[in-house]
Amino acid sequence: MRGRSSSVGLVLLWFCSLMIGGAAGLRICSYNIQKFNKNKAANYRVMHTLTKIVSRCDICVLQDVVDPKLEAVKVLVASLNRSNKRYDEHHYEYLSSQSLGKASDDLEQYVFIYRTHLVKRLDQHQYEGKAFVRPPFAVHFSCNKTDIKKFVLVPLHTDPDHAVQEIDWLYDVFEEVSAKWNNTNVMFLGDFHAGCAYVTRDDKKNIRLFTNSNFSWLIGDREDTTVTDLTNCPYDRIVVHGQSFLQGIRPDSANVFNFGKEFRLRQAKVLLLSEHYPIEVRLKGSAPLLQAAPLLVLFSAIIRFFLPAL
Ligand SMILES: *[C@@H]1O[C@H](CO)[C@@H](O)[C@H](O)[C@H]1NC(C)=O
Ligand SMILES: *[C@@H]1O[C@H](CO)[C@@H](O)[C@H](O)[C@H]1NC(C)=O
Ligand SMILES: *[C@@H]1O[C@H](CO)[C@@H](O)[C@H](O)[C@H]1NC(C)=O
Ligand SMILES: *[C@@H]1O[C@H](CO)[C@@H](O)[C@H](O)[C@H]1NC(C)=O
Repeated sequence: MRGRSSSVGLVLLWFCSLMIGGAAGLRICSYNIQKFNKNKAANYRVMHTLTKIVSRCDICVLQDVVDPKLEAVKVLVASLNRSNKRYDEHHYEYLSSQSLGKASDDLEQYVFIYRTHLVKRLDQHQYEGKAFVRPPFAVHFSCNKTDIKKFVLVPLHTDPDHAVQEIDWLYDVFEEVSAKWNNTNVMFLGDFHAGCAYVTRDDKKNIRLFTNSNFSWLIGDREDTTVTDLTNCPYDRIVVHGQSFLQGIRPDSANVFNFGKEFRLRQAKVLLLSEHYPIEVRLKGSAPLLQAAPLLVLFSAIIRFFLPAL
């Protein structure tokens, strides 16, 4: 009898942990995929790996996309749709900014790729206020499965020579988009060149996103978002505004995704995609079931108490 009651308890505990595990939240990624164009999308190996990388994310923000006709992007999204065929509802959509840049031979797009059954795009906004080389393209999202139901993502790929100035201007972008959508849950993400020679420790005092304590830098100064062993620089970053957004984020979930290690790929293969690694963070799931978990633990304790008496 005792044996059976403890196995009932174990089953219930397993059930609880399953539900907690099911509240997986929402993974948001950023990846500078360096000159992502038709040629790159024609490389089977690159696309195979890229599909694996992006399919881990619920929203992925690509930078340095050079694909004005969106041919490469469509190949990627079709590949993502196929790779998730088993899960009927896991389909992807994309949203691209205009081609942005100062010189006609050096234009890039920001591209959002996201799971349609999880997140909904509410609105979008091309920032025009300051003289960014590639001005941020902000998107307002909603999600029913996260603590934070509505949030704004703002990607930036800085011009390396103006990195300090451009990162500082993100404060102005914050003011504009948070007022526009009455939402201060704003996340900045992308290749800011926020390290090594481009942004030094001394430069931080000139960057409001550093000096204003309402902003939290989730990818720290000691991270290395570059692939090659020759450099050790935290170029790619994720910054969030506000305490409530910070609390809606899973602790320690902000990471550099070293897919070379994860997928056992040699550095040369990793570099075929980009000199950067993707970065990511997870928002907490809201999961009403999570609140039921303590009840079930109590229930299993009660059963364990009474069963031996039967
Ligand atoms: C991916 O799936 C979505 C949802 O079914 C669909 O709207 C979209 O057209 C597909 N995209 C591509 C490129 O196949
Ligand atoms: C979230 O719920 C609202 C209201 O029920 C619904 O209108 C919206 O489509 C849902 N959003 C997503 C992403 O499922
Ligand atoms: C803005 O949002 C806050 C809560 O987040 C709400 O109390 C307020 O009414 C909103 N203002 C407008 C103009 O919608
Ligand atoms: C930080 O945010 C709070 C709440 O929105 C605001 O009252 C405060 O002025 C902000 N602090 C700074 C330094 O901007």
